[in-house]
Amino acid sequence: MRTKLIVANWKMNYSVTEALKFLAAFHREINEIENCEVVFCPPFTALYAMEETLEGTPFKVGAQNMHWEDSGAFTGEISPFFLKEMGVQYVILGHSERRQLFGETDGEINKKLMAALHQNIIPIVCVGETDKEHKEGKTFDLVNLQMKKALEGQNKTDLPNIIWAYEPIWAIGTGKNATPEQAQEVIQSMRKELSKTTNAPTAETMRILYGGSVSDEKAKGFLKQPDIDGFLVGGASLNPQKFAGIIRATQRPQ
Ligand code: PGA
Repeated sequence: MRTKLIVANWKMNYSVTEALKFLAAFHREINEIENCEVVFCPPFTALYAMEETLEGTPFKVGAQNMHWEDSGAFTGEISPFFLKEMGVQYVILGHSERRQLFGETDGEINKKLMAALHQNIIPIVCVGETDKEHKEGKTFDLVNLQMKKALEGQNKTDLPNIIWAYEPIWAIGTGKNATPEQAQEVIQSMRKELSKTTNAPTAETMRILYGGSVSDEKAKGFLKQPDIDGFLVGGASLNPQKFAGIIRATQRPQ
């Protein structure tokens, strides 16, 4: 059984004060979780305060990006080593906003993935197609290619530690999410690909998330699909009640 994983991608939202205010409101909603992991990915500036506040709770923190080198002349960048020292356990890599707005390439994502695995930071690697590619029926090939490029040259023994997120770009922040069946079909094909790069039993243990306009109302429908192991949540993760609602959708009925 794969443990469900819910990841909050706050993007460039919430200062330290705002982040701590969110956590106070969130804790009034939910304190304990069962058979589920929850990771908050705030901006770098709020990571330390969040990490300290969440210590001793079941909730964890992750980064939204990082550089692939541990140190050096890379003005404005954050090293995987710094994240590890701070207790960060997860990192989102290759989010479509990084790819589209900041020109991040498959080659860079490949190097970042290698660096995360080297530091034992669990990578959450995002893949997904644009609206145009979706309409042209290129989804499966594109997602497959993005995965292949991310995995090039990686140490085989590290592959089971990678978490994948299928995020159709046309569904991000648009309110137009993929249907649970559409997401299942793509994620199932991703698992099939992973079974070729690893083996079928290993691919069965690997977690693949869906992301793109996930809401508390829609969460249950996605979770009924056999290959969807949780969510990468943007907009709805900024609202403590809505985010708690998404987490509750993973919990067994009382
Ligand atoms: P959204 O963002 O939930 O606001 O669509 C998801 C993401 O960008 O990871």
